[in-house]
Amino acid sequence: MTKNIDKILLAYSGGLDTSVSIKWLKEKYSAEIVTYTADLGQQDLDKKALKDKAIATGASETIIEDLTQEFISEYVFPALQAGALYEGKYPLATALARPLIAARMAEHAKKIGADAVAHGCTGKGNDQVRFETSFNALNPELEVIAPLRDWGFTTREDEIDYAKENNIPVQATKDSPNSIDENLWGISVECGKLEDPWQEPPANAYQWTRDIPDTPDQPTYLTISFKEGIPIGINGEALNPADLVAKLNKIGSTYGVGRIDMVENRLVGIKSREIYEAPAATILLTAHQDLSSLVLDRESLHYKETIQSKYSEMVYYGLWFSPLRAALQNFFTTLQGKITGKVKLKLFQGQCQVVGRKSESNSLYDEGLATYDENDTFDHGSAAGFIKLWSLPLKVAASCEQNQQQKETKANKSIKAI
Ligand code: ARG
Repeated sequence: MTKNIDKILLAYSGGLDTSVSIKWLKEKYSAEIVTYTADLGQQDLDKKALKDKAIATGASETIIEDLTQEFISEYVFPALQAGALYEGKYPLATALARPLIAARMAEHAKKIGADAVAHGCTGKGNDQVRFETSFNALNPELEVIAPLRDWGFTTREDEIDYAKENNIPVQATKDSPNSIDENLWGISVECGKLEDPWQEPPANAYQWTRDIPDTPDQPTYLTISFKEGIPIGINGEALNPADLVAKLNKIGSTYGVGRIDMVENRLVGIKSREIYEAPAATILLTAHQDLSSLVLDRESLHYKETIQSKYSEMVYYGLWFSPLRAALQNFFTTLQGKITGKVKLKLFQGQCQVVGRKSESNSLYDEGLATYDENDTFDHGSAAGFIKLWSLPLKVAASCEQNQQQKETKANKSIKAI
């Protein structure tokens, strides 16, 4: 017998999908709907308006909580330390937020005695996978409902019509039906005009960053300080994690930094054209990687690079709460002790360029070894011996091949002679 569902905790953003979900769930189950919204640093989050809208759409109660610091410290910075970029480009803002939202929802569901949790994700995206995989990993007993997927609308236009018929105010229109997800680590935009991967994103698709012609005429310089892999200050000013990221978003946006336009491979097998804006992520990932090059030994650095993409895949695929993600995280954590120092960056017309780096305590850069002037301390003689041994296997193989060829030429000659 299926269990009675009287109370549902719904992940709610106030957007089209989740607003429509309130109505649907309420009608289908005749259940009480409680909405859950995480404040993850999305700009212009009007908690009062969100609450009013949820109640007006049919929710009996709303939970809105500020998770910004936790999001940055427990999810974003670990991903930064892992150099996480899906397919080398996407800093995973949406993907990192989902497991945190799911974890908090699982806790609240228990507290308020909800019989099920629900989300407004469609069947085509990654977010359904991330939510449900996280719910399953944290509370295997929890019932999960996905109204949009399971009794979904055929088109987004249908959904907009349904919202209008039910007096649900929505931002998306049929002309601009973009689907947007936003948090402090970045904003993700898909659908609408973006579905044609050949078409340049319309001007209004980018919401955080300035267009290059509107950026300042002169560059700006930033110095970011890291302590054991954690960014702690900008230009000498100490900042807490969330404030630091917010400030970099602001500066980066002014200089048009952090726009990403890509075709990505979703977990469900679909290729999708997405655009992202992630100024702070772009700046911090660039700086962290650069400082790593200065302080990590060559082999750790190279090994880290080989598993960065695996780690990014795990996060993208919704496997945050998996043993492998945790094990990989431990690997990155062991390297962070060395990542203390400063990185100097130049922002100009959409570019974020490292122009200097230093670490008083952990730099492995030895000017005496690197220099070509009279202060050179490198033992040039040792290079000759090194190369001799380094190339020994190739030399042996080449001699072997030569001998073989000589033998074959001799044999051919004697056959001809017969
Ligand atoms: N493609 C990105 C991801 O899977 C962004 C998803 C954005 N979600 C949304 N509801 N617009 O992480």
